[in-house]
Amino acid sequence: MLLAFASLPLASASPVFRTRSSNANTTMAYDWANITSHTDLIWTPCFDNFTCSRLTVPLDYSDPTIGTTSIAYIRLSASNSTAQDILFNPGGPGGSGVSSVLTAGATLSQYLGTQYNLIGFDPRGVGESGPSLDCFPGAPEAKARLDESFVRPIDSQDPRSLTQEFARAGAYGDWCSRVHKGGDAKYANTPAVAGDMLNYAEKAAILAGGAADEAKLWYYGVSYGTVLGATFASMFPERVGRLILDGVEDSEMYYNGSWDGNLEQADEAVESFFTFCYAAGPDKCVFYANSTQAISQRMAAIFEDVRAHPVSVSDPDFVEFPTIITYETLVFALLSALYTPTDYFPLLAQILVDLEARNASLIVKTFTPDTMTADSAGTLILCLDAAGRYNLSTEQAWEEHVGGVAAQSKYVGDAWASAAVACRNLHVIAPANQQVTSVPSANNTNTPILFIGNTVDPVTPIKGARRMSGLFAGSVMLEQNSVGHCSISSFSVCTATHIQQYLADGSLPAVGTVCQPESLPFEDGTAINVR
Ligand SMILES: *[C@@H]1O[C@H](CO)[C@@H](O)[C@H](O)[C@H]1NC(C)=O
Ligand SMILES: *[C@@H]1O[C@H](CO)[C@@H](O)[C@H](O)[C@H]1NC(C)=O
Ligand SMILES: *[C@@H]1O[C@H](CO)[C@@H](O)[C@H](O)[C@H]1NC(C)=O
Ligand SMILES: *[C@@H]1O[C@H](CO)[C@@H](O)[C@H](O)[C@H]1NC(C)=O
Ligand SMILES: *[C@@H]1O[C@H](CO)[C@@H](O)[C@H](O)[C@H]1NC(C)=O
Ligand SMILES: *[C@@H]1O[C@H](CO)[C@@H](O)[C@H](O)[C@H]1NC(C)=O
Ligand SMILES: *[C@@H]1O[C@H](CO)[C@@H](O)[C@H](O)[C@H]1NC(C)=O
Ligand SMILES: *[C@@H]1O[C@H](CO)[C@@H](O)[C@H](O)[C@H]1NC(C)=O
Repeated sequence: MLLAFASLPLASASPVFRTRSSNANTTMAYDWANITSHTDLIWTPCFDNFTCSRLTVPLDYSDPTIGTTSIAYIRLSASNSTAQDILFNPGGPGGSGVSSVLTAGATLSQYLGTQYNLIGFDPRGVGESGPSLDCFPGAPEAKARLDESFVRPIDSQDPRSLTQEFARAGAYGDWCSRVHKGGDAKYANTPAVAGDMLNYAEKAAILAGGAADEAKLWYYGVSYGTVLGATFASMFPERVGRLILDGVEDSEMYYNGSWDGNLEQADEAVESFFTFCYAAGPDKCVFYANSTQAISQRMAAIFEDVRAHPVSVSDPDFVEFPTIITYETLVFALLSALYTPTDYFPLLAQILVDLEARNASLIVKTFTPDTMTADSAGTLILCLDAAGRYNLSTEQAWEEHVGGVAAQSKYVGDAWASAAVACRNLHVIAPANQQVTSVPSANNTNTPILFIGNTVDPVTPIKGARRMSGLFAGSVMLEQNSVGHCSISSFSVCTATHIQQYLADGSLPAVGTVCQPESLPFEDGTAINVR
């Protein structure tokens, strides 16, 4: 769950960009076994309502002799057979666009306009696409066991938690480095994926009878997907057809590997839970208390109680084996809820009420263990891209990093801090010509970019959208007045209208436009759930 909308940093591994990922079950091996890879685009029916394709691509576009790999695509087609394609990336890194389109394609397509083909793809190293970033090849059971014990959140007040995470991250890096040393993993970097997006646009143009060199990319990227989109726009500005970047990560921070500026608005997001709960009243918010301060204190008491005394669950209706819920799980659940308040604040309220009575059945069912996993693809990709630039090589450096992140968010810093330490012993980095060492920018994109930022985004603060918009001449940032990660965490007719207008004719909202969401947490609205 790093920067994935679908699951935290890391769409499924770290709470950064993705949290509740459901990658595992949606890419069904049976169907994909029937899809062979070609250098040209060939669509084959798959999964009832979709068509699938695999494209053979060079591992390194600058030297095709090095070898090839294969990228998986899934298409939810418009009824118009000549419809425009829109590629989608759900975040991460490590998020599967194939899974997202399979599970949420219909909803996403309504958001963007059903007259377009929605194309999900698995970026390099993810899901059905090569090269493999699996650190446990041939040993899925070992990976599954690691996943169960791999708790990325830490307790910054517990020195043992810090030293253990430091050691664990080091061992993980050593292990994965040994598996991938000298292999193809390094070609799964973000600039290479940008190359794959251009390649897709070219192959689609050829299939439609057009010219490859005039092909343009139409793309919707959320969270880490905004880094991918900005990277594309800086590498191939003249190939930008439409680019919508939503829930904008500061690309410079992504590429410097520090993960230290994401939580600037996280505490504001947590405090909105108190405010929304209070405003909703006791009938709609089960965690209601008679002031926002009382709600805040009530939550703090639960955190302290669980920190001091973990809660056990042994009810077979909820767990497969005896399980304990610790402060680390709780802080992860809180961060996860911030991604999509309209969906998750009511659930969070019930979790807290239950925990107050030391009943952890609901939290164990919703947040562990499969939502906190050792997502090697996401971790490897972010470390490849960071290329050792932010190296927490000593316990002291790690402790200072944790202190900085905790200072940024007293509530959820502990669920975020470990994103950067995972790279300390990972010696698999992008080839020099595929490293991004200055912030992506461009003056001359063929079509200006539409950036979207929520007023309060817990992991990609709105200042990232402002800053990135300033680096792409002609672009505009649309603000959506909601709390959550990416505009799709709430639904706003206004935002959808601006998106569809931009897609239709390339026109942008007026500078300074602010859209209102249709509903607030604890009311009856729902998010656009791409998990
Ligand atoms: C995931 O898929 C496997 C078989 O591929 C199935 O047995 C299992 O029930 C599925 N799990 C969920 C949560 O759907
Ligand atoms: C295909 O569409 C039908 C009808 O809308 C739906 O019931 C079914 O679940 C869809 N199948 C998949 C795999 O999405
Ligand atoms: C089909 O899509 C193409 C490309 O977007 C568009 O030019 C054409 O007008 C569409 N046709 C219909 C009937 O909507
Ligand atoms: C990383 O980039 C961000 C955004 O420019 C900056 O604020 C931060 O200081 C940088 N950190 C490091 C360690 O370079
Ligand atoms: C809030 O409730 C507490 C006890 O639950 C009570 O002591 C206090 O007076 C109440 N405050 C208000 C403003 O109603
Ligand atoms: C614990 O919480 C769950 C979920 O809210 C509920 O179904 C269950 O009845 C509770 N158990 C007890 C002993 O109250
Ligand atoms: C981080 O620094 C340590 C100590 O200098 C070094 O051994 C290690 O190779 C570095 N890691 C990376 C990924 O550059
Ligand atoms: C943008 O334009 C300015 C002034 O013409 C130029 O100095 C700068 O290098 C350009 N930046 C990019 C990324 O092209």
